[in-house]
Amino acid sequence: MAPAIAMGLPTQFTTTRALTRELVAPLSDADATVQSMADASPAKWHLAHTTWFFETFLLRDHLPGYRLFREDWPFLFNSYYEAEGQRIARNSRGVLSRPALAEVLDWRAHVDAAMEPLLGDPAMAPLIRLGIAHEQQHQELLLTDIKHAFFSNPAGPAVWPASDEAAEAPGARGWWNHAGGVVEIGDAGAEFSFDNEGPAHRVLLEPFALADRLVTNGEWSQFIADGGYRTPALWLADGWDWVQQHGISAPLYWHGDEQFTHAGWQSRDPERPVTHLSFWEADAFAAWAGHRLPTEFEWEAIAADHAADGGNQLDAADAPLPQGGDSLFGDCWQFTRSAYLPYPRFRPAGGAVGEYNGKFMAGQWVLKGASCATPRGHSRATYRNFFHPHQRWQFTGVRLARDL
Ligand code: AVJ
Ligand code: FE
Repeated sequence: MAPAIAMGLPTQFTTTRALTRELVAPLSDADATVQSMADASPAKWHLAHTTWFFETFLLRDHLPGYRLFREDWPFLFNSYYEAEGQRIARNSRGVLSRPALAEVLDWRAHVDAAMEPLLGDPAMAPLIRLGIAHEQQHQELLLTDIKHAFFSNPAGPAVWPASDEAAEAPGARGWWNHAGGVVEIGDAGAEFSFDNEGPAHRVLLEPFALADRLVTNGEWSQFIADGGYRTPALWLADGWDWVQQHGISAPLYWHGDEQFTHAGWQSRDPERPVTHLSFWEADAFAAWAGHRLPTEFEWEAIAADHAADGGNQLDAADAPLPQGGDSLFGDCWQFTRSAYLPYPRFRPAGGAVGEYNGKFMAGQWVLKGASCATPRGHSRATYRNFFHPHQRWQFTGVRLARDL
């Protein structure tokens, strides 16, 4: 596993852009065009949208004389920035049979070359760092979206070779104790953080404990065998409605003793962390186990003493798969019971990039840590990922907490 090394910004830019290309190397144009659900985007769209981000917010706005590669592509590859004008509907991204994959890759090369004069400019560094972190987020989304696309194909293609990383046998669950008190939460002065991680502020914690490992597939099977999905008393009301409306009886990608992976259908290892859960399932499991989910503040207070780059994260274009172990960062994003809300005194930045995180602060839950599909170097203790409570196509998992 490659340790994260401190790299200059031009090198970070080049290696990040190169990894995205490596991720799509096994994909045909047809593979890269499929959109299997509205939440997921075609791989080709991710390649293009991350390029649009650099072309728009760096080249168009800051490189004198730069001309857009294609005048009509911003309409196709703007994701949700109202300040950047109209765009195709999110659920129509799969109709983009043109531009072809090769044309999108040409655009990437064009933008990479055009970015060169800006990479050493200190005034551009904050936006370039944002563009790199943005591309890393889309690397993870590209992987989870293509997984859903191949899962949705009844042929169940195996596109990557199976992971050769053995599971780490889970020990008995231990706990990290915290005495409670006033803790500092949020933006700790890292070289880069997203705006939603700040401002730093104080939070009062009661004494609690956080589990030293994730919940496993084997433990989830016990929850199922014990009638977990058929016991309304374990579920939040909206979660129980969701279970019944959609006939949910197992995590996403489970079938019999198998699970769908980037390497196709594989036998499910009971020792590996369970993944592809909704918030509703995570919360019901915690109730069944006699514990609860942590708050985002509890999680962050424990993580302050843990290295953010040591767990099972994405180092190369290999099939991501949870492995187990004692890192807080890696394998699976971990649900908290904290609503995704602005921190005290939060103000979104001005202009289009102010739409990046702030406007999603309603109806979603915070997840902490990182997953096996998160590019190494992307995580921090203060990082706040967020999803709607029913969504489960990300590598999401459960780390329990309890009161002391
Ligand atoms: C933080 C993963 C919820 O998927 O919209 C990508 C990441 N933000 N481009 C999302 C993101 C802008 C974001 N999540
Ligand atoms: Fe984006």
